[in-house]
Amino acid sequence: MNRLQFIRLLGTAFAGATLAPHLIACSSEKKSSEPDNNDAEALAQKALAADVERPVTVVILGAGSRGKIYAAYAEQFPQCMKVVGVADINEFRKTQMAEKHNIPAEAQFGDWSEAIAAGKIADAVVISLPDDLHYKPCMEALELGYDVLLEKPVAQTEAECVAIRDKANEKGAIVGVCHVLRYAPYFLAMKAIIDSGAIGKLVSIQHLEPIQYAHMAHSYVRGNWHDSKATTPIILAKSCHDLDILRWMVGKPCKSIAAYGSLSYFTHENRPEGATARCNDGCPHEATCPYSAEDIYVRKGWHLGVFDNLPPKAEKEARADKIREYLKTTNYGRCVFDMDNDQPDHYVCAMEFEDGITASFSMEAFMANGGRRTRVMGTHGEIDGDMKRFVMKNFRTGEATEWDASTVQEVAAYASHGHGGGDLGLARDFVNAVGHHDAGRLSSDINVSMESHLMGFAAEKSRLGEGKQRLG
Ligand SMILES: NC(=O)c1ccc[n+]([C@@H]2O[C@H](COP(=O)([O-])OP(=O)(O)OC[C@H]3O[C@@H](n4cnc5c(N)ncnc54)[C@H](O)[C@@H]3O)[C@@H](O)[C@H]2O)c1
Repeated sequence: MNRLQFIRLLGTAFAGATLAPHLIACSSEKKSSEPDNNDAEALAQKALAADVERPVTVVILGAGSRGKIYAAYAEQFPQCMKVVGVADINEFRKTQMAEKHNIPAEAQFGDWSEAIAAGKIADAVVISLPDDLHYKPCMEALELGYDVLLEKPVAQTEAECVAIRDKANEKGAIVGVCHVLRYAPYFLAMKAIIDSGAIGKLVSIQHLEPIQYAHMAHSYVRGNWHDSKATTPIILAKSCHDLDILRWMVGKPCKSIAAYGSLSYFTHENRPEGATARCNDGCPHEATCPYSAEDIYVRKGWHLGVFDNLPPKAEKEARADKIREYLKTTNYGRCVFDMDNDQPDHYVCAMEFEDGITASFSMEAFMANGGRRTRVMGTHGEIDGDMKRFVMKNFRTGEATEWDASTVQEVAAYASHGHGGGDLGLARDFVNAVGHHDAGRLSSDINVSMESHLMGFAAEKSRLGEGKQRLG
C-alpha cells in the first residue's frame, strides 16, 4: 500500500483535525526513500515549532527532571518560548536553570510561594513541582491570571482536581495537563486510524504499561512516589497517562471500572536473611539482587537524573564515588525490602465505556523492558503496537500495514525523545494555546483531563475493596 492509498484509507478522518497527515505515512513507502538525517531534523524542527508571533513567557516552578524538559523546549525554539523566572528550593537546580536562560536575580525564587508573591511576571507558569504541590500553586497562579502548564497528576484528591477545573473556567484560563502520550506521533497515528474507521467499529482495547523492574524500584519503592499518601496512588502517579490514552482512543465516556492489585514483593517480609539496610553496607545479597542500588546506579548508570552535579561520564571513578555518596545519604541506596513504601507492584483494571466498548489495563513492575504495548480490536481489523511501531491488519483484505516511528521522516528525529516525542509535542501545543489564547489547541486541557483522573480515583477505590465503580 502506498502513502496515497493509506491516506485514502483513512478517508476524511483528518478533515479539521490538528493532526498532519504526514504523521501517519506508512513505512512501506519510506523504505524506498530512506530519510536523509538532515532533512528529518529540519522537518522535525518545523513540525515542533509553535506558530506564535512572539515567544510565550513562562516561569518554571520546580526545576527538576520535568521542569528541565519543558525549559529545553525554550532552548530549542527561542522564537516560541522564553523562560523568564524560576523557583526551586534546590539551589543547584535553580542556579543551573537561571544561568541557562539568563534569568535575572529578581526572577529567581526559592519556594514556589515567593514566585507567586512577586505577582504576574509572565504569560504562564509551568508547575513541575512534586505531586503534593500542584493544588495550591495552581490555584494561586490562576488567581493571579496566569495560564498554567500543570504536571500530572492534577492534584491529590478528586475535590482538588474539581476545584482547579472550576477556577480555570471561572478565570477563562488555559490549564494544560501534561498527559504527554496524547502528543506522541505514535499514539496520534493510532488514534487517527481508529477514528477513520479503517478497523471497523471499535470493540475493545488491551493496554499494558510495563514499568520495568528497576524503574519500579527507583521511583515507586525508593523514590519520590514510594508513599501513595504523600503523593498519589500509582494508578494516578504512573498510570493516569494510560487511563487518559484509553479514554481518548475510545472517544466515549467510561461508565464503570473495577480494579485489583497489591504490593506483593517489596515488603519487609521478603527481606532476605542478613540483608543490610543499604546495598553498599556489605550486603551479602548485593551481587545477586536485581534491585541492588550499586548495580542500578553505579554499574548500569540508570536513573541518574535524580543526582545533581555528577562528574562527567569520562571521569569514571569520580562519578562512581559521587553516586556512592548519594547512595549513603538518600533513599536511593536503601534496601528495597526495608522501605516505607505502599505502592502496588501489579495493578489491573477492567473498564466499560459507552456503547459497550471494553478495555483492560495492566501496570506491571516485573518486566525486563519498558515500552507500552497496545492491542486495538475492531470489527474489520486489529492494531498491535509497542510504542515504536504498530501493525494494522485488515480482516477483509488480509493486508498488514506498518507504522514505524523511525521511518516517518517528520517524526524520526524526535520520536526517541521523552514519551515517544510527546513531551516536545505538548510543549509546542501549550505554547500555541497560550499564544493564541485558544485552549482548543491542546488535546489535554483541564476539562478533558478531569475524566481520566476521575477514572483513576474510582479505580483506586475499587482496588481498595469498594467493588465496581460507576462513573458519570
Ligand atoms: N508527565 C509525565 O510524564 C511525568 C513524568 C514524571 C513526573 N511527572 C510529574 O512531574 C512532577 C515533577 O516530577 P519530577 O520528576 O520533575 O520531580 P523532581 O523531584 O525532579 O522535581 C521537582 C522539583 O521541585 C522542587 N521543589 C520541591 N519543593 C519545592 C518548593 N516548595 N518550592 C519550589 N521548588 C520545590 C524540587 O527541589 C525539585 O527540583 C511530579 O508531579 C510528577 O508526578 C510527570
